[in-house]
Amino acid sequence: MRIDICTLFPEMFEGVLGSSILKRAAEPVVDKSDGSVREAVCSYHTWNIRDYTTNRHQKVDQPPYGGGPGMVIQCQPVFDCVNAVREVKGDDGVVLPKGRLIHLTPQGKVWDQKMAEEMAKEERVIFLAGHYEAIDQRVIDELEPVEVSIGDYVLSGGELAAMVMIDSIVRLIPGALGHEESAHQDSFSEGANRLLDCSHYTRPATWEGREVPSVLMSGNHAKIEAWRREEALQNTKARRPDLLGEAESRDD
Ligand code: ADE
Repeated sequence: MRIDICTLFPEMFEGVLGSSILKRAAEPVVDKSDGSVREAVCSYHTWNIRDYTTNRHQKVDQPPYGGGPGMVIQCQPVFDCVNAVREVKGDDGVVLPKGRLIHLTPQGKVWDQKMAEEMAKEERVIFLAGHYEAIDQRVIDELEPVEVSIGDYVLSGGELAAMVMIDSIVRLIPGALGHEESAHQDSFSEGANRLLDCSHYTRPATWEGREVPSVLMSGNHAKIEAWRREEALQNTKARRPDLLGEAESRDD
């Protein structure tokens, strides 16, 4: 998957995209057994909207018409930036897929695991992260992005929201996680019937007088699996009963 990000703050992405699983997912993998190289599962490309301004001071925003607080990002640099990204050629001049354009905004559809699973199937995703009060609505109407919110609270810009989405998408691309990890059983995933996850334990077997549930040390995989399913159900009942109704109706 190719991920493009149009933003006024590309530097905000460096630490997150350059760490941990997101970093590893963008690196090719060498198979030690035969030396073959497997392509990276994704690549990240940040674009500064300010580079597409046509005024001498590289100003991107103006006060809102009608008055009010904050500044509004103007149409022209956003439009030119997104179009440049859409038209960019890949290595060796190959034409890239058009991709899905996503605008991060509190007015968007609230992001969830199901949407992440769908998005993880895309070949290319382009994020448009606004900052300050908003982006001029006319360029949004012209570009017709999918509008996504990461929750009912307001951030200073779409950058953190884009990073949250990227993390939740990339971990679902086959090959992004090592063998030892799996996104399949994550909370909210289809594999977990969209319930919360079960509790997890590691060594030592006793800590501060607290024991690890004995079934987990029994070696009986069927019993362990059943225990985990029941734990997930009880966890969900106690903390997120709203998810249970949905899971039950899916079981029917
Ligand atoms: N920009 C500001 N707040 C946001 C949110 N909650 N989700 C997505 N983008 C945003």
